[in-house]
Amino acid sequence: MKPQLNPFSPGAGARPPALAGRDELLQQSAITLARLKAGRHGRSQMMVGLRGVGKTVLLNRIADQAEELGYKSVEIEVPEGRALAVALLPELRRLFQDLDRMGAAGTALKTAGGVLRSFLKGVKLKYREIELEMGGEVEEGAADSGDLESDLPEVFIALGRAAAERQTAVVLIIDELQYLDRKDLSALLVAVHKVSQKGLPITVVGAGLPQLVGNAGEAKSYAERLFLFPELGPLGAADAKRALQEPANLAGVEFTEAALAEIIRVTHGYAYFLQEWGYIAWNAAETSPIDAEVIRRMHADAVDHLDRNFFRVRFERLTPAEEGYLRALAELGSEPQRSGAIAAVLGRNVQEVGTLRDLLIKKGMIYGPSHGYTAFTVPLFDEYMKRRMPLPDPRVRPARRR
Ligand SMILES: Nc1ncnc2c1ncn2[C@@H]1O[C@H](COP(=O)(O)OP(=O)(O)O)[C@@H](O)[C@H]1O
Ligand SMILES: [Mg+2]
Repeated sequence: MKPQLNPFSPGAGARPPALAGRDELLQQSAITLARLKAGRHGRSQMMVGLRGVGKTVLLNRIADQAEELGYKSVEIEVPEGRALAVALLPELRRLFQDLDRMGAAGTALKTAGGVLRSFLKGVKLKYREIELEMGGEVEEGAADSGDLESDLPEVFIALGRAAAERQTAVVLIIDELQYLDRKDLSALLVAVHKVSQKGLPITVVGAGLPQLVGNAGEAKSYAERLFLFPELGPLGAADAKRALQEPANLAGVEFTEAALAEIIRVTHGYAYFLQEWGYIAWNAAETSPIDAEVIRRMHADAVDHLDRNFFRVRFERLTPAEEGYLRALAELGSEPQRSGAIAAVLGRNVQEVGTLRDLLIKKGMIYGPSHGYTAFTVPLFDEYMKRRMPLPDPRVRPARRR
């Protein structure tokens, strides 16, 4: 069918034609946001889930909700291996300018400007890479210690007061939170803690890979009470069907039940894969309804497409030793595996591969779903590793089956 009319939208952060299975979470965030302006406590949220489950798309939708309420929002993606302050500053400046434009300058707004300029000065001293200018008066000595854990709360409080003065609220949307190092994550948690204690209208809505939950708990033990950590997973069968059938129907096309079942079987309901399969199936089908035969015929093409794009960009970031570790994990299966068993496949003990495992967690390739276990953060990566590195691989001994 005509690719020009294809309704599906595979791609990181690409708005899906139907956002299936997230109604409850969206209701939850609508309530939290509505309470915020009234100074009522609403727990900040950090959504966690594997790659491609739809975290970024949900963050974007929550940004829309904030906008509909007339709130100011700031959206950033944590850059891997870079400082939070550097990523945040341009957006905080923009936020300040937005608040400034809302009317004649009040006291809280003036103070916020001064605090932000002072913060910028401190950050510039520490990280020379930042090229940002902010004209105007500096609030000497405010938020310029160079220690983010004491500076960021000051900045958040000042901006929170300015927002309250403007009778609006601020939503900070932060993606890829698993990339924050412990100090930056602590600083963010303390800042959120302080503004929430003061009932100021600022909230953080974040997202990250599953390791974020553990990272946050290690950074500050109160993280679990401060934040909700909604878990996003693959879509259930009914939602997965809706994600495929609804966009097709709107374009006058249908999937047969058998076609839907086949797509769900191979994608396991992961949102990103559903979009890819929907997209390729649409182009491969000659007429409506799209039947299971089409899905089976296109299977090899779809897998090849993922291998060359989605999986390959992640594989290419690996060192040979990391490849070996992931290949060993894949050998054991798609479920979380005991870290000891992975080491054993490599003919090593857990301690010997501990550093390697930590590096892979930092890179966002794997995580520890529970103590002593390891799992992929990318759905179906086990199957890819097996295709990409067929045995015999000198680094991996075939798993002994018991
Ligand atoms: N609830 C949903 N229903 C249907 N498709 C979705 C849903 N959430 C995400 N998608 C699709 O899945 C893909 C990945 O979404 P994204 O938000 O980038 O995932 P993540 O940030 O978790 O890696 C995109 O193509 C998007 O259109
Ligand atoms: Mg994302």
